Amino acid sequence: MALFGKKHAGLSKVEVPPAMDADEAARIAFEHDLHLSKHHFVEGEHPVVRIEHLNKTFDGETIVLRDVNLNVWNGEIVVVLGPSGSGKSTMLRCINLLETPTAGHILIEDDEITGKRPKEVNFIRRELGMVFQSFNLFPHLTAKENVMIGQTKVLGKSKEEAEAEAIKQLEAVGLGDRIDYKPPQLSGGQQQRVAIARAVAMHPKVLLFDEPTSALDPELVRDVLNVMKELALHGDMTMIVVTHEMGFARDVADRVVFMEGGVVVEQGLPEDVFDHPQNERTAQFLGSIE
Ligand SMILES: Nc1ncnc2c1ncn2[C@@H]1O[C@H](COP(=O)(O)OP(=O)(O)O)[C@@H](O)[C@H]1O
Ligand SMILES: [Mg+2]
Repeated sequence: MALFGKKHAGLSKVEVPPAMDADEAARIAFEHDLHLSKHHFVEGEHPVVRIEHLNKTFDGETIVLRDVNLNVWNGEIVVVLGPSGSGKSTMLRCINLLETPTAGHILIEDDEITGKRPKEVNFIRRELGMVFQSFNLFPHLTAKENVMIGQTKVLGKSKEEAEAEAIKQLEAVGLGDRIDYKPPQLSGGQQQRVAIARAVAMHPKVLLFDEPTSALDPELVRDVLNVMKELALHGDMTMIVVTHEMGFARDVADRVVFMEGGVVVEQGLPEDVFDHPQNERTAQFLGSIE
């Protein structure tokens, strides 16, 4: 049994089996995902993220995630699509424990992160980078300082080390000439690139993106997508990206996951999901936005 958070009467009482044995889970996941992803599978490999029977209910009655099962492999780029309200953000927020799952298991490299104490949670969050729709930069700090602060405060790096890493990552996102600018002096696209540099500078095991371009003016979207593309293709980073950018998903995703109503409705290779969706809901959704 696995129950976390406040226990309300009724709907929120979801009981799920214990997390699977790591080798067994990896074997089942391998067989399940082998033809659904462009990831280069290695025999015996374990997924870096394992989500088993994830359920999330708000206020004891709003069911937002229903028995989500998903594995993400080292270096894999997973794009999550789905209509507004389908639970995409909630799933990402559960993965980095910004939300407490109602039931289920999330494991990072076979280490269960659900049901941990707050101190351990902070330790786990280091492993997970997040890029939000709204950038979430400190407005009074420069771009460089924004990229340094997590490194010094959370990772305990020296100022010199953190600064060198910050400059390197800001250069990588094309902002080498903006390191001393503060967020209000930067465009939305530039701010989002700072946020990406900040996340990458922490060298997380997994980078989570929650609609990173949705708040941007259309002409700024491309620069951010290009940075993400570069990271995905050359950064050997594991990424879970919630986005409505279908071009990005087609070009970059190893696997596309379609969610609706808190359920993973369909997943597969981008060309399969986009050109031959198996589920009618997927087809309808793609038809409505492409
Ligand atoms: N803190 C919360 N309290 C209550 N309901 C919430 C909360 N966060 C999200 N929800 C509800 O969960 C559902 C899924 O939300 P979300 O995960 O943000 O979907 P998506 O990211 O796919 O648009 C929505 O109906 C939303 O209203
Ligand atoms: Mg969302």
